[in-house]
Amino acid sequence: MTSTNVSEASAQDALDIRDSRTDAHYSAAVKTEGPEGDTYIRASDLRAVKKDASEFGLLSYDPAFMNTASCRSAITFIDGDKGILRYRGYPIEQLAENATFLEVAYLLRNGNLPDQTQYDSWVRDITYHTYVHENIRKFLEGFRYDAHPMSMLCSATAALSSFYPQARDIHDPHQRYISIIRLISKLPTMAAFAYRHVKGLPFIYPDNDLSYVENFLSMVARMSEPKYEANPVFVKALEVLFILHADHEQNCSTSAVRAIGSSGVDPFSAVAGGIAALFGPLHGGANEAVLRMITEIGDKKNIPAFIESVKSGKGEHRLMGFGHRVYKSYDPRARIVKKLADEVFAQVGMDKDLEIALELERIALSDDYFIARKLYPNVDFYTGLIYRSMAFPTDFFTVLFAVARVSGWLAQWEEMILDKEQKIARPRQIYIGEGERSYTDQLREKFPRARKDSIRK
Ligand code: CMC
Repeated sequence: MTSTNVSEASAQDALDIRDSRTDAHYSAAVKTEGPEGDTYIRASDLRAVKKDASEFGLLSYDPAFMNTASCRSAITFIDGDKGILRYRGYPIEQLAENATFLEVAYLLRNGNLPDQTQYDSWVRDITYHTYVHENIRKFLEGFRYDAHPMSMLCSATAALSSFYPQARDIHDPHQRYISIIRLISKLPTMAAFAYRHVKGLPFIYPDNDLSYVENFLSMVARMSEPKYEANPVFVKALEVLFILHADHEQNCSTSAVRAIGSSGVDPFSAVAGGIAALFGPLHGGANEAVLRMITEIGDKKNIPAFIESVKSGKGEHRLMGFGHRVYKSYDPRARIVKKLADEVFAQVGMDKDLEIALELERIALSDDYFIARKLYPNVDFYTGLIYRSMAFPTDFFTVLFAVARVSGWLAQWEEMILDKEQKIARPRQIYIGEGERSYTDQLREKFPRARKDSIRK
C-alpha cells in the first residue's frame, strides 16, 4: 500500500481516497470557505490518482456542471433549499423593496452600496453614455421587420465592440470601467430601438432628464408628446423586475460571459455571448415560453389535461416557469413577482391568463409529480404576465431580462478578470470515439479500384 499526500493542507480536513485498482491511498484537502461554509476539494487534486506515472490522472466527469464550482465569487449567494438569494450579502427582498436598479448595479460591481456622491457620479456616467453611434441605428434598421429582438440585441451588442477597440485593453481599470458604463447605458437604447424597428415606429432617442427606467419606457413608448410621462406603477414594477434579474451567480449566460471573457476578449463580445445564452427557452427565454404555454392552455378547464400531458412526458411539454437547477423550494424572486403582479393587475384589471397561471400554480403545487421533484414556480412564471400587461410583446420579454442581467454579467466578468487563479476556460472531455485507425486502409476498403490521386481531385 502506498500513501501519497495530494495537498500540503491534508493535515487538516481531508478526503481520504483509496484506489482499488492499485490499493494506493490519497488525501485531498477539504477546504471550507465563506460565511455559509461551502466545502470543496480541488478537482485538480484528483490528477495525482493514477495507475502508473505516465497516465494523465483521474478526471471528474460532470456534464452540465451539476457539481462543479468554476470560481470563487463574492457577488451573489443562493441557498436553493431554503429559497435565499442575496446580492453582496443583502437579501433580495430588501433590495427589491428599497433600492433602485442602478444602486444594485453599483453594488454588484463594487461590493458595497454607494454613498450619495458615488451614486450621483455612477448615475451621471451612465446617463451621459445612453446615446449610440448613428451607425448602430442604421445597423438595426437593416434587420427584417420580423426579426426577433433578442437576435437584434445580441448582434448590436457584438457590433459595439467594433466602435470601442480600446475596450480590448481589459487590464486597464479605466477601460473596464468605461466599457461597463457603456454597456449598462446603451443596452436599453438598443433594446428600445429593436422594439421600435419591429413595430415600424421611428426610433426615440434617450431623454437624459429621466431616470434609467423612465428613459427606457420613453424610448419604447413615446409617440408625439414632447415629454413622456410613464405610468408610476409600471416604473416601479420595471425597477423591481430589473433588480430581481440583475444577477444570479453562475447560471448559463453568466458562465458563458465568464468563459468567453476568459479568452481575454473585450466585454462587448463577452456580453453578446451572454445574450445569446439567455435567449434559450430553458433560460431567459422561459418567460416568453410561459406566456405561449398559457395561451395554448387557453382556459382553466384545460389545465388538468395539460398537467397530465406534462407528467406523462408524451407531449414535448414541460411546465414552463417551473423548476430550477438550484432552487428546490419556492424561488424567492417568484414570490416578489407574484406580489408585484397583484399590484400591476390592481391597476390594469384582472387578466384571464393570470387566472390560468394562478390555477396552474395551485394544481402543480399540490400534485405529487411536482412535489416529489421539488418543482416550484421560478422567476419567469409571472414576469411575462406583468410585461404583457405593460403592453410589451411576448418576444420582447427576454430582452427586458437581458437589459437587467448585463449588470450582473459585467460584475462577474470583472471579478473573473481580477481573479489571479482564473485562466482561459478549457474543460476536459472523456473521449469515446474511435481509437486510432488508418486513412489509407479505409481508402483501399471504400474505393478499391480508385487511385488516391484521383480521389483527391
Ligand atoms: N416541468 C415538468 N417536469 C420538469 C420540469 C418542468 N418545468 N423541470 C424539471 N422537470 C422534471 C424533469 O423531467 C426530471 O424528471 P425525471 O427525474 O422524472 O426525469 C426532473 O424534474 C429533474 O429535471 P432536470 O431537467 O434534471 O432539472 P435541471 O436542473 O436540469 O433543469 C430547468 C432545470 C430550469 C432547465 C428545468 O426545470 C426546466 O426545463 N424548467 C422549465 C424552463 C424554465 O422555466 N426555465 C427558467 C429557469 S429560471 C430563470 C433562468 O434561469 O433563466
